[in-house]
Amino acid sequence: MSPVRPVAILGGTGPAGMGLGLRWARAGGTIIIGSRDAHRAQETAAKIRERAGEHANVSGMENSEACAAADILVLTVPFESQAGLLKQLKPAITEGSILVDATVPLAASVGGRASRTLGVWQGSAAQQAAELVPKGVSVVAAFHNVSAELLGGDEPLDCDVIVCSDDADAGQLVRELATRIPGVRAVDGGKLENSRIVEQITALLIGLNIRHKGHAGIRITGLPPDAYR
Ligand SMILES: NC(=O)c1ccc[n+]([C@@H]2O[C@H](COP(=O)([O-])OP(=O)(O)OC[C@H]3O[C@@H](n4cnc5c(N)ncnc54)[C@H](OP(=O)(O)O)[C@@H]3O)[C@@H](O)[C@H]2O)c1
Repeated sequence: MSPVRPVAILGGTGPAGMGLGLRWARAGGTIIIGSRDAHRAQETAAKIRERAGEHANVSGMENSEACAAADILVLTVPFESQAGLLKQLKPAITEGSILVDATVPLAASVGGRASRTLGVWQGSAAQQAAELVPKGVSVVAAFHNVSAELLGGDEPLDCDVIVCSDDADAGQLVRELATRIPGVRAVDGGKLENSRIVEQITALLIGLNIRHKGHAGIRITGLPPDAYR
């Protein structure tokens, strides 16, 4: 992982963002935890440094400062806050940035079940994000099907990450980020519109977790080795 190209995790104080930050910090990345509250971001960054080792390069900033300080932005906020936050951050997101969207439009956002999803007019949460980012910013959908609880642990994971984007180079960069998480293989999932399927899988996994009391992930089998990178 490039130690000189920072990755900012917006909403990185929650379990999903913190888990990704921990894994990438351990892989030698430069990580900026973003939050609405700079103090909370700094506290989370300190917790990650404690876990990842003294050489870990992790800092914490208010979300718009984090956007200005990085051109790889990972969005890990609840669906109900995704659009509002992106509108607020639009002026701070620089042209040429990559926005990695992990948002799942769970019905829990409106008081429904976490094992059901909401219809999104644009097709998916990631496609909604693509409508809201400034021109010249590529959106990549990824990390929807990874358990935050396992990300926040110390063991290698046992799952694949399906990465969808209309920008092939951005998709490749995010697949490389995904493979820095031990045990994770990344699969090119094609265009951003396929994120509508990937997001739905999370609701199924949550239902399986409730039913079987586990931390389900997915593996895609039967593809040639070249597909898994
Ligand atoms: N949890 C999982 O296993 C998992 C796995 C894959 C994908 N995801 C997806 O990743 C996203 C984050 O999941 P999570 O479990 O980490 O969520 P979360 O804990 O509910 O929220 C993450 C962070 O979002 C920020 N946030 C909350 N409400 C906000 C608002 N109104 N405006 C701006 N920021 C707000 C908060 O940070 P501050 O208060 O510090 O600003 C919070 O710590 C969700 O869309 C989820 O569907 C989750």
